[in-house]
Amino acid sequence: MYRTHNCGELRLGHAGEQVTLAGWTAAKRDFGQLTFIDLRDRYGITQLVFDMDTQPELCEQARKIGREWVLQIDGVVRERSNKNPDRPTGDIEIDVRSLRVLNASKVPPFTIEEDTDGGDEIRMKYRYLDIRRAPVKEKIIFRSKVAIETRKHLADEGFIEIETPYLIKSTPEGARDFVVPSRMNAGEFYALPQSPQTFKQILMVAGMDKYFQIVKCFRDEDLRADRQPEFTQIDCEMAFVEQEDILNTFERLTKHLYKSVLGIELPDFPRISYDEAMQKYGSDKPDLRFDMAFTELDSLVKGKGFPVFDNVELVVGINTRGQASQFSNKDIKKLTSWLQRPQIGAKGLVHVKWNEDGTIKSSVGKFYTDEQLKTWLEAMDARPGDMLLILAGEKDATRKQLSELRLEMAGRMELIDPTVIKPLWVVDFPLLEWDEESQRFHAMHHPFTSPTKADMDKMNSTDRAVLSSIKADAYDLVINGAEIGGGSIRIHDRELQMKNFHLLGFTPEEAESQFGFLMGAFEYGAPPHGGIAFGLDRLCAIMQGEKSIRDYIAFPKNNQGRDVMIDAPSSIDEEQLKELHLQLDLPEQ
Ligand code: AMO
Repeated sequence: MYRTHNCGELRLGHAGEQVTLAGWTAAKRDFGQLTFIDLRDRYGITQLVFDMDTQPELCEQARKIGREWVLQIDGVVRERSNKNPDRPTGDIEIDVRSLRVLNASKVPPFTIEEDTDGGDEIRMKYRYLDIRRAPVKEKIIFRSKVAIETRKHLADEGFIEIETPYLIKSTPEGARDFVVPSRMNAGEFYALPQSPQTFKQILMVAGMDKYFQIVKCFRDEDLRADRQPEFTQIDCEMAFVEQEDILNTFERLTKHLYKSVLGIELPDFPRISYDEAMQKYGSDKPDLRFDMAFTELDSLVKGKGFPVFDNVELVVGINTRGQASQFSNKDIKKLTSWLQRPQIGAKGLVHVKWNEDGTIKSSVGKFYTDEQLKTWLEAMDARPGDMLLILAGEKDATRKQLSELRLEMAGRMELIDPTVIKPLWVVDFPLLEWDEESQRFHAMHHPFTSPTKADMDKMNSTDRAVLSSIKADAYDLVINGAEIGGGSIRIHDRELQMKNFHLLGFTPEEAESQFGFLMGAFEYGAPPHGGIAFGLDRLCAIMQGEKSIRDYIAFPKNNQGRDVMIDAPSSIDEEQLKELHLQLDLPEQ
């Protein structure tokens, strides 16, 4: 038997017991008379003591042990004289009676402690050492709890888990596909699924109501802190449901996860429409942990002789409470340059300060009287000490820019309390989004999303404005400003699906060749159905107040999409290329 206990479970109550432990050498302290080793495993750290007086040979052996060596010891549990209150096992230590080295270790390339000296790249290369560190290990264990509770809860609600294939044909979710060449079918390729979307819909046609799957998805898109090329979804689909059924079912799942994993009771989630979210926060994933909602000022600012405001689609601002004295002219200049960076692209920034002494100072003071500026301050519920920040321009772009500014100001004003959790449903998304560049519509969610019943007739219109106004039966779950999940009620009728493909610029032939299998299935008794998918990695990060999903994934990719531990992607040899009927035509390095 390798061990009688693990390194995290011994307490004062075990004093006097003979135990066997196994683990890694986290630290060694040699005080001549006494040598201490901290033995670590997944469960915790236990202090071992070697006494020169009573066990000289054993003590000599212990002194030779290096960091991360794998040990097995026998010993007796005893009360510690200087207890460590920061460690669950801190009241005891093991008086070691025998020691076996199970394996030696090279000196690790970085310290394996809470705070490490290792940079990102080196920690990724030695990911197995990084995972030994408590912060990474805890995140992976947390993810496991979320996944297990998800399975338990959905199974209790009558869902069944079904696997769908990874070698499929491209599904258009908006990103590029990863493709896999077929050896047996020369010149043909599989695509890795961006999601199991079409399969889960076909499972509904097959009568497998209430499907779920915790499933890998693959998207060849640019990486960010909350995006990985392979990530995991909690993917679900239900038959004979309306939007209300799905929102209620997945609100229950979210509440269950917060309660069972974190012990937090969430109140009912508010719902806001896409239009309202864009108008008030400039974002379809608003962070509601703080207010600073937008106020549109057009009726107050236009027609007063200030050409910048007169000639734009939208003038909109936020009131930053108590900031009038916090921002010098130089600070505002800096903030303006920050907004003018290409990533945000604002043209300029107008401010109005209502100083504590009652005076009003504004960058557009030349064009407006104090009386006029007061009407703006009133409209934005300002008090002395407040500062208005105002942007103007094309409607959608200006809202997005002000959304960035709102988040930036919330950060600077320290308005975000990390213990607050603000989930909400965003509903009534547009079905179609016009893309100027390609001069055609894109599906805002995906092409299988149904329009709302009320807007069904508008599908026959040829007027771009009418088509743009069609609402989708689609919804997103947003928590603390992050999109956790999205879904929709689906089209389950061949004709309507064809119509949607047509609006998205598919020829009938293209639609048939790419999605004939789905539309064919719709002709054999497809039930009304709908579903949703949560991003598991994102949900875990948000539940723990983290921005990056990377450490919730045991073996993530770096920012260049590489796995530096196994060195992938990598080239393959001539023989393999030939087998796959591939010829490489690489540019000269
Ligand atoms: P969607 O594309 O909105 O919907 O994806 C669902 C959720 O998956 C997460 N997510 C990601 N997480 C990490 N890295 C990524 N690259 C990444 N991309 C997406 C997000 C997102 O909300 N088939 C539909 C679902 C449906 O209609 O039922 C779909 O995939 O949290």
